[in-house]
Amino acid sequence: MPVNGNDLDGLKIEVFDITKTSWEAICHDVLNVEKIVFGDKADPELPAFYQSPATVAVLLRKRNDNMIVGCCHAFPNANDDSEIVAHVDSMALLPEYQGRGLVAELNRQLEKELIKRGYTFMTMHVSLANGYAGKIAKNYENRIVETYDIVSKYGHGSQRYFKIRLGAF
Ligand SMILES: CC(C)(COP(=O)(O)OP(=O)(O)OC[C@H]1O[C@@H](n2cnc3c(N)ncnc32)[C@H](O)[C@@H]1OP(=O)(O)O)[C@@H](O)C(=O)NCCC(=O)NCCS
Repeated sequence: MPVNGNDLDGLKIEVFDITKTSWEAICHDVLNVEKIVFGDKADPELPAFYQSPATVAVLLRKRNDNMIVGCCHAFPNANDDSEIVAHVDSMALLPEYQGRGLVAELNRQLEKELIKRGYTFMTMHVSLANGYAGKIAKNYENRIVETYDIVSKYGHGSQRYFKIRLGAF
C-alpha cells in the first residue's frame, strides 16, 4: 500500500550527514542494497561518492533495527552548471520494499535537501524497461525542462535523461 506524508509504516527517511555518521557505519547496508538491486552493474565508485562532502545521500531505514533498505544520492553535475545542477546517480530499494510508493518519499527528501544546498535543477538517467521513466515523467510533468533517450554507457540498457526544475517546499 502506498505510503504518504509521515506514515512510513515502520520506516524512516534520513539525510546522510558525513559529519555525524561515518561511511563505515552505513557501508555494509548501502553496498548490500546496491549489490542486490544492481548486481554486477553496481557502481564501484559508490564509496567515494558517499564520502565526498559534495554528495547528498538519502537513506530509508527500518525503525526497529535501523537497517538501510533503500538509498539514493546526488552530486554536482559536472556536465552542466554544477553550482545549480545536481545529478541523481542512484535510486535503489530492496526488492521487498519496491512497489509501495517509497521512491516518492526518497525523491521528496532528496529534492528538499538539494534545494537547501542551493541547487535549482536535478538531472537523472532513468531506466525505460522497468517503468521508472514513466513514473518520473508523470510525477514531474510540469517541471521537466529537458528529456531525451540514450543507451547507458554502464550497461543499464535504454534510459531516459531528465532535467527537472526543483520544486518549492
Ligand atoms: C525503480 C524504483 C526506484 C521505483 O521505486 P518504487 O517505490 O518501487 O516505485 P513504485 O513502483 O512503488 O511506484 C511509485 C509510485 O509513486 C509515484 N510517485 C510519486 N512521486 C514520485 C516521484 N517523485 N518519483 C517517482 N515516482 C513517484 C509513482 O508514479 C508511482 O505511482 P503509480 O504506479 O501510481 O504511477 C524501485 O522499484 C527500485 O529500486 N528498482 C530497482 C532499482 C532501479 O531500477 N532503480 C532506478 C534506476 S534508473
